[in-house]
Amino acid sequence: MKIGYYQFNPEFGNVENNIEKMTKALESVHADLIVLPELATSGYLFTNKEEPRSLAEKFPGILSKEFLRLSEKTGTSYVVGFPEYAEEGVYNSAALITPEGIQYIYRKTHLFFEEKKYFLPGKEYKIVDVKGYKIGILICFDHMFPEAARTLALKGAQVICHPSNLVLPEYGQLTTRVRALENRVFWILANRIGTEERGGSKLVYTGESQILSPKGEIINRAGAEEESVFVTEIDPEEAADKKVTEFNNIFEDRRPEIYTL
Ligand code: ACM
Repeated sequence: MKIGYYQFNPEFGNVENNIEKMTKALESVHADLIVLPELATSGYLFTNKEEPRSLAEKFPGILSKEFLRLSEKTGTSYVVGFPEYAEEGVYNSAALITPEGIQYIYRKTHLFFEEKKYFLPGKEYKIVDVKGYKIGILICFDHMFPEAARTLALKGAQVICHPSNLVLPEYGQLTTRVRALENRVFWILANRIGTEERGGSKLVYTGESQILSPKGEIINRAGAEEESVFVTEIDPEEAADKKVTEFNNIFEDRRPEIYTL
């Protein structure tokens, strides 16, 4: 299975430009699965509730149309972050878009900082199929909750896709390595780069997108500041091996009866 990411600097508020930038960058890249950052269509640093609502995708919108066209052309599936319009409010979501259509939308379950003012939290973790392999999705701050990745792994995830806008230096790059190795899964962290300054606040995004093996090895890591497309070949079946030693299996050795969760 060929997996990869696109790390770039979305321009705040310019959905059309951001979608054009992503689709242009990926037009001649062929893989099975490519992950893009969190809120890649809109940017991140909102200053009021109206902004995420007005920048949100109301299906079917420009994101669906352009990524479906791209997916049909390249044969690649994409996981891309965007604000999702719903009757009841806006979600911080990521869509799995394949040549066959939009297969799944994950809604971020752990909202970070002021996201709590702008978004509703999602309520489920689900496994979806890409080319016969089991894929799970988490978004950014979800990485701080080992239960989220563990739930996906227990449901059979072989590859976890992780669109992000990480701002705490080294946190996400460290935890995702641990999540990959403690669950024995592949992990695609697609982070963004750049700086946003709006309404008196400033955020610097940490880049360093990375692909991790089920042993926590860094297969590839992007730079902290440059735009980057990367694709590599993996064997997702390696994620079936939950053995740590001859005597230890990461799932069978769990002791849920004595945990407080
Ligand atoms: C984050 O969850 N965007 C830090």
